[in-house]
Amino acid sequence: MSTWLLTGGAGYIGAHVLRALRAAGHDGVVLDDLSTGLAERLPDDAELLRHDLLDPDLGKVLADLTRRRDVAGVVHLAAKKSVPESVALPLTYYEHNVGGTVAMLRAATAAGIGRFVYSSSAAVYGETSAEPVAEEHPTLPTSPYGETKLAGEWAVRRHAEAEGLSWTALRYFNVAGAASATLADRGATNLLPLVMRAVDTGTPVKVFGDDWPTPDGTCLRDYVHVDDLAEAHVAAAAALEEGRSPGALNVGRNEGTSVLEVIRAVEDARGRPVPHEIVGRRPGDPARVVADASRIATVLGWRASRGLAEMCAARS
Ligand code: WQD
Repeated sequence: MSTWLLTGGAGYIGAHVLRALRAAGHDGVVLDDLSTGLAERLPDDAELLRHDLLDPDLGKVLADLTRRRDVAGVVHLAAKKSVPESVALPLTYYEHNVGGTVAMLRAATAAGIGRFVYSSSAAVYGETSAEPVAEEHPTLPTSPYGETKLAGEWAVRRHAEAEGLSWTALRYFNVAGAASATLADRGATNLLPLVMRAVDTGTPVKVFGDDWPTPDGTCLRDYVHVDDLAEAHVAAAAALEEGRSPGALNVGRNEGTSVLEVIRAVEDARGRPVPHEIVGRRPGDPARVVADASRIATVLGWRASRGLAEMCAARS
């Protein structure tokens, strides 16, 4: 049994990673400032360290933790993740996402923790036209959010080379679904929560363009169930404990799903129509973003097992 430190562990994805670690016989200690994370997502017996990564005392927090518990490594999920907000507040995103990663790397190394799983994103590829997108594809992020995710990868890679850490950067494609209502994504920016909200409120969800070069005219994305994503973190942790450093890995299904297909899947799952309206394209949207997920399958033996129906299922 290993214990991992989960920064951002009270977040939508982090809480699922804790759940997956425990299901695999491991455990996690959560470090979260609860600025967007929710303590209610955590099991009652989970250890929560309520701290800001930019807190000057971060090193002392980790030193105290490693005196009390044998920490196998860090899963660094804490970050700000809104693309439009990053455009409005770039320095806040660089400070928290890049500065927070640097602070975490320093504190982890000072505390003798030598393994680092970094939460990255498909946003590092920017407006790619390749389908599917492999890890070697040029990384040309088009938003401050994507830039901070890529800069964080560079910091992790270079620090690992300098200090001999084992590391991986998991590039999430479009994460969706939830194990329960409590664990659901509360952010109202990504497609699936917005479609669910349209069913619940009757307020139409906007479909950003139906004139794209795709089969039904709406954008394609690679949606991956958050439980599959969480299990990818467990597989990554195991690889790092074997002393491997897989580097950057795409986490997706290698399957493109359109906006209208997501809407139909929610209608099937909920047995009710999804009010929606076609509007103009959203600036910066690529027509297609689909992962080549062959490397993570080869390197970690991980493949997604859940489909769109599970992601769209109503949750109790
Ligand atoms: C998905 C699709 C929209 C809302 C971003 C980040 C990425 C990751 C996921 C963190 C697109 C369409 C959306 C709506 C719509 N985040 N859409 N109406 O933009 O693919 O990726 O979030 O890692 O890094 O870049 O996700 O959920 O915003 O959009 O038609 O009201 O749904 O055009 O095709 P996106 P999204």
